[in-house]
Amino acid sequence: MIVTTADLFELAYGKYAIGAYNINNMEQALGLFQGSIDAQAPIIIQVSRGARQYAGVKMIEAIIRAAEQIYPEAVFAVHLDHGDEATCYDCIDSGFYSSVMIDASHSPFPENVATTRRVVERAHAKGLSVEAELGMLGGVEEDIKVDEKHAMLTDPDEAESFVEQSGCDSLAVAIGTSHGAYKFRGKQGLHLNRLAEIQARLPGFPLVMHGASSVPQAEVARVNAAGGKLDASASGVPEEDFAEAVKLGVTKVNIDTDGRLVWYRVHRESMQDEPGLIDFRKPGKTFVQAYADFIVHKSEVLGCAGKLAEVRAALS
Ligand code: G3H
Ligand code: 13P
Ligand code: ZN
Repeated sequence: MIVTTADLFELAYGKYAIGAYNINNMEQALGLFQGSIDAQAPIIIQVSRGARQYAGVKMIEAIIRAAEQIYPEAVFAVHLDHGDEATCYDCIDSGFYSSVMIDASHSPFPENVATTRRVVERAHAKGLSVEAELGMLGGVEEDIKVDEKHAMLTDPDEAESFVEQSGCDSLAVAIGTSHGAYKFRGKQGLHLNRLAEIQARLPGFPLVMHGASSVPQAEVARVNAAGGKLDASASGVPEEDFAEAVKLGVTKVNIDTDGRLVWYRVHRESMQDEPGLIDFRKPGKTFVQAYADFIVHKSEVLGCAGKLAEVRAALS
């Protein structure tokens, strides 16, 4: 059952976060849906511009629609991840998406507001909600000065006025995370104090954590043991921080890299362990199960495991 992202947020706010997972292919879709059923968790399926180019817009939609038929019990929203203005309009007009993200965070504040406002007007007219981004997501290196570090994080006063002026429905905030496998080194970590300050200005307003993969050391070690060359000192968001982030307004948690690590671990190990195998369906099947198990684990740490029945009842 496809639902609106706004409805999911209303049920989740302050109690649990919903995992938002990027998909690019059939195997990810099968694992994601299977995992959501195993966990009894609602999910947000994210489609990036890269995924739309890779699989094709029609194929991505067909994969999700087929998965919906295979897993009729699933409750999910479909969301455009990191959209530009043109892609947002394409998704809004398609009638398939629940919500879009307009990412104009690289633009100066007034331009970010104006672009977001335009997308909000088009989206709201069709019943979609809009996620916007404010602040500079990216590696906050240990050796830069504290002042500079804080300048990259989302400013709480700006966040309040951005939401008011743009009319967006949720906000991706920069609180120290970055995309990819290399987020933190040494003593770096989430800036939960900054998150608390943002929530104080925007009580009840859904906040989004991008770059929220945890980059488990054990997974990196297995990828490397099977021929990978990932930097083993890199780390991600500690899973024990999610519960606190939820209390501070984080309602959507974006996870892509951790799923890619599962894919690389399974496929590298398969090629290493069975070098004579010429059947990609074998590692494919292993990946679907491993990805489903991964979704179960993430749903547990985000607190949304076991919520499917009540979400379905509330939204049916
Ligand atoms: O934040 C970006 C997501 O990880 C999607 O990555 O644009 O390579 O599909 P992508
Ligand atoms: P990760 O790279 O930490 O998985 O973040 C994904 C993301 O933010 C997608 O928008
Ligand atoms: Zn992101």
